[in-house]
Amino acid sequence: MNGKLGIGFVGVGWMGSVQLKRLLERDDVEVRHVCQPDKPGALRVLDELGLPHSLYTPDYDQVVADKGIDCVWLVSPNRFHGPQSIQALQAGKHVFCEKPCATKYDEYCTQLELARSNPRLMTFVDYILYFDAMEQNLREMVARDEFGAITQIQVNYRHPINIAGDKAWKLSREVMGDAMGMGIIHSLSVIYWIMQSQARPVSVFASAMPAQVRPFEALSIWNIQIHFDNGATGFCFGNIDTSKGYDAYHNLSGTKGGFIFDSQTDHSHKVRLWSEKTTDGRWIYPLDAARCEREGVGQLAWPADTSTPDSGDVIHHQTAEAVGHFLECVKSGRQSPLSFVNAAPITELGWAALVSAELKRPVELPLEPAAAREILARADSAASA
Ligand SMILES: NC(=O)c1ccc[n+]([C@@H]2O[C@H](COP(=O)([O-])OP(=O)(O)OC[C@H]3O[C@@H](n4cnc5c(N)ncnc54)[C@H](O)[C@@H]3O)[C@@H](O)[C@H]2O)c1
Repeated sequence: MNGKLGIGFVGVGWMGSVQLKRLLERDDVEVRHVCQPDKPGALRVLDELGLPHSLYTPDYDQVVADKGIDCVWLVSPNRFHGPQSIQALQAGKHVFCEKPCATKYDEYCTQLELARSNPRLMTFVDYILYFDAMEQNLREMVARDEFGAITQIQVNYRHPINIAGDKAWKLSREVMGDAMGMGIIHSLSVIYWIMQSQARPVSVFASAMPAQVRPFEALSIWNIQIHFDNGATGFCFGNIDTSKGYDAYHNLSGTKGGFIFDSQTDHSHKVRLWSEKTTDGRWIYPLDAARCEREGVGQLAWPADTSTPDSGDVIHHQTAEAVGHFLECVKSGRQSPLSFVNAAPITELGWAALVSAELKRPVELPLEPAAAREILARADSAASA
């Protein structure tokens, strides 16, 4: 061995080719396999990245059987994440997994069991907004009590996901799973993290309707209410079918302040916030440094390159941060906050929304696994009938 972490890379499409590129920028990994059924597509990416064709394999069994592989990197279509991660954990590999971690509740339960019983294997589900700079600022401000107790928080995910060309698999419920895993889970993750320092979710009430514009098989338009143990409420409008641009609107209302992120306006006005503690109760625009200066709050301005969570293009995502973070976890032996186990309360919000929409009533958290299994299996068979 050369001291580098051996990577088995699985699925080099839109997101995968960006992540593979990020891995190649590092000197602590060796990509040993690039695996997917589509050979011409894989060879095209290998050529673009200057990698030898010998890295290509269509055979996932070969990837997990390779003793030189430390980490399996899953960026395949959604329905493969569950079985491929289970197989990788059973073979003793660390697992980086794109969201969703599974499209079937049973697979999710098996993943959790395996991850819990193999704590030395690092796992990761790519709820990538964890790494966004605005989200980090916001989480820290809430934790520092800059807005007091948050009583209401709304975070939208309305973004017409890409179904062009070979991404048409996203129209199939069997391959895509549900709309939660296709993106709406990002909003739920953000609500969870922002509230994490103050409260924990205790129930979910969701409703959904079919896509209206494009032929998604899965319900694509979601309204999700999360209730917290301190009485606060979180709300998400989710829509993967259609929207004008990328709507990641945030609105937090606290007892001593508030925060609004409007993803659909010019950069310097996207964020405004007020706080009794830090802005003397006045609204300020931290992405407009000149205005902060004029208004005597220059010290509260954010750096001009602060990222915001409103790009539908994976090129702009914090992929390098996510990749680096996971590799650090593997090297240090410390599980990520986004490990299968640590991120389970977020993943569970998504399952709870599906259960709630099926039952048409609020459901309590944590889910009771046997009941959730039965309800979600029923929903699956009704949808495929
Ligand atoms: N975290 C994010 O914000 C984010 C953003 C975009 C995509 N994603 C996720 O990345 C994954 C890939 O999405 P995409 O948009 O890149 O799709 P894509 O269709 O461009 O890429 C999927 C790739 O997987 C390959 N593939 C198909 N079947 C496979 C199998 N059985 N095993 C291995 N590979 C297989 C395909 O040939 C293709 O190259 C999805 O799970 C998606 O949810 C996450």
